[in-house]
Amino acid sequence: MNEKLIAALDLGSGTIKFAIAELDDNGPVIVGFGTALSRGVDRGAVVDLEKASESIAKAREQAENMCGKKVSTVFSTVSGIHINSVNNKGTIVVSREGREITREDVRRAEESAKVIMLQPNQEIIHVLPRQFIIDGQGGIRNPIGMAGIKFEEEVHIVTGSSTVLRNIKRSVKNAGLEVGEFVLQSFASSYSALREEEKELGVTLIDLGAGTADIISFAEGNIQFTEIFPMAGAYITRDLAYVLKIPLNKAEEIKKEHGFVITSDDEIEGEIEVEGIAGNKNVMVPKMQIGEIITSRVEEIFENIRFQLTKKGYWSNMNAGIVLTGGSANLQGIDKKAQEILELPVRIGYPGDEGVSIGAIKKPENAAIVGLINYAKSKGISRKHSFGEWKDLSWLKDIFGF
Ligand SMILES: Nc1ncnc2c1ncn2[C@@H]1O[C@H](COP(=O)(O)OP(=O)(O)O)[C@@H](O)[C@H]1O
Ligand SMILES: [Mg+2]
Repeated sequence: MNEKLIAALDLGSGTIKFAIAELDDNGPVIVGFGTALSRGVDRGAVVDLEKASESIAKAREQAENMCGKKVSTVFSTVSGIHINSVNNKGTIVVSREGREITREDVRRAEESAKVIMLQPNQEIIHVLPRQFIIDGQGGIRNPIGMAGIKFEEEVHIVTGSSTVLRNIKRSVKNAGLEVGEFVLQSFASSYSALREEEKELGVTLIDLGAGTADIISFAEGNIQFTEIFPMAGAYITRDLAYVLKIPLNKAEEIKKEHGFVITSDDEIEGEIEVEGIAGNKNVMVPKMQIGEIITSRVEEIFENIRFQLTKKGYWSNMNAGIVLTGGSANLQGIDKKAQEILELPVRIGYPGDEGVSIGAIKKPENAAIVGLINYAKSKGISRKHSFGEWKDLSWLKDIFGF
């Protein structure tokens, strides 16, 4: 059997993650995984090419060394406030007699749905099918072969800044790789952390990373909306550093080791010793104070999410509640606080309930990277991309039937 490799890069603003998966008969198996502190990336955008490339190269090297395989093309996540999204609809007339709908009709409907007013310097990243409507009857997933006269396709369109995308490509290239395809980060996470039943019932995934909160919502199996807010874990860390007058890296350490969200009236006892800056004496900080600072910021993050989404009229159809992914989902008590503010059931999303085999990387911060692998597989890996050193794509025919 030929070796079939999928490579994925999650360009987080806290951590860059790199995964290599082998596609065997049972699906993808992650065989290489690497991470690097994300440098030169701020809230989804490359702000320092050289540093970003170095971080990418580091994560890649780790992943390649782990499995002893080389890759050249990657699926890469995208995120950031440069991204916009909109739902749109394309309509075509099939014929007067109501003949069968063909692949060509679907293509024409999609072409028509793709026509949107792009803001200057924006390009299309995704045109994701939501549903097909035949003569007014919606909810159709696969229209081919059905009869109808008026044929409509609803899509979710995601666009991003050409400049930002170009700079990501450049930094990836400087790391010796090529971007095969960009995938919206929240969409990638949905491929590993959401269950099909939840998408049917109505669910919103909030991926709370370092720089951004990446949100995607589904109902009746269709994407309802996607949103990105530039307020997440790093925002909490910054406040901790500011109030305690300590360096950012110390604040990050304290947050991860001792951080928690206050979820009851119980007083948490004890203090922790915090190193003073620039030779100053160490200071003792009550644990409760750390909890209070973190809790305020977490409240602000979820209140903002709720306010913004309500304002846009998105706050409905979430019978299955909220799924929290991203590194900040590790914060003790965050699910309870989210539940209180969003007034919906909340669960932490772990990647790999289905799909790829992942073992030790089953953590909420790896939802996007694992999801990318699942996405690549489910998409049948577009024929224009080659993966790893492996150029013969005829196997795609066998697996995916095209
Ligand atoms: N145990 C933890 N407690 C609190 N925050 C955490 C914990 N682990 C990770 N984080 C936070 O998660 C964020 C990184 O998550 P990640 O999903 O990797 O972000 P990104 O994809 O933006 O790089 C950081 O802000 C980090 O402080
Ligand atoms: Mg992330």
